[in-house]
Amino acid sequence: MDGNGRWAQLRGLPRLEGHRAGAESVRDITRAARELGVEALTLFAFSSQNWARPADEVAGLMELLREFIIEERAEILDNQIRLEGLGDTERLPPHVKGPLDELRSASAGNRGMVLTLALSYGGRESIASAVRACARDVAAGVVKPDDIDVERFERYLPTAGLPPVDLLIRTSGEQRISNFMLWELAYAELVFVDVLWPEFRRAHLQGCLETFGGRERRFGLTSAQLADRSDV
Ligand code: IPE
Ligand code: MG
Repeated sequence: MDGNGRWAQLRGLPRLEGHRAGAESVRDITRAARELGVEALTLFAFSSQNWARPADEVAGLMELLREFIIEERAEILDNQIRLEGLGDTERLPPHVKGPLDELRSASAGNRGMVLTLALSYGGRESIASAVRACARDVAAGVVKPDDIDVERFERYLPTAGLPPVDLLIRTSGEQRISNFMLWELAYAELVFVDVLWPEFRRAHLQGCLETFGGRERRFGLTSAQLADRSDV
């Protein structure tokens, strides 16, 4: 979700107004994704690096997060959405972590769509933390170094419980990954849209899904191999 600051700047508004407008897109996209039958929606709301932004912007973002979690609680539960947090959520202030943890447990049994908020999240940070956990198991003799392969390692990642990433959408025209799900994006389709996040709504999401539908995902195979497979 990128472009809140630029959206505000274009209108001569403070950056926080961009984040406020962006929160409306979050509501709209969450609703749309649920209705379109998306299995898992992960929103990169706040990175490990975003803590270094000006203190008043960080505080404002935290307040908006708290409002989102509290105001959307009923709709999340009514629509069978399971809310998850991804990242170093221990760093979140108690007025955000409290409602987040409460809604995580209240929605834990829901099976409609998993909505994951990546908060205080970094892809490198999460790989480093998985390496630490894996190294601890090696030190404890639970895992042998030679047994560590892709499947085994990724069980240590905080995304282990989520389905594989099919599609990454980045708004605002920037064409960067910016430390998001570095491992998990290995075979994801990347779509970069030239729309600022506060303007990104349901119709844009549908457009991205159509683009995704038009891509041939080969996972290292040839087109001919894929065609043979679909005949089976
Ligand atoms: C994305 O908008 C929201 C967060 C990172 C929280 P930005 O704040 O990055 O907006 P720009 O990039 O300055 O326009
Ligand atoms: Mg940005």
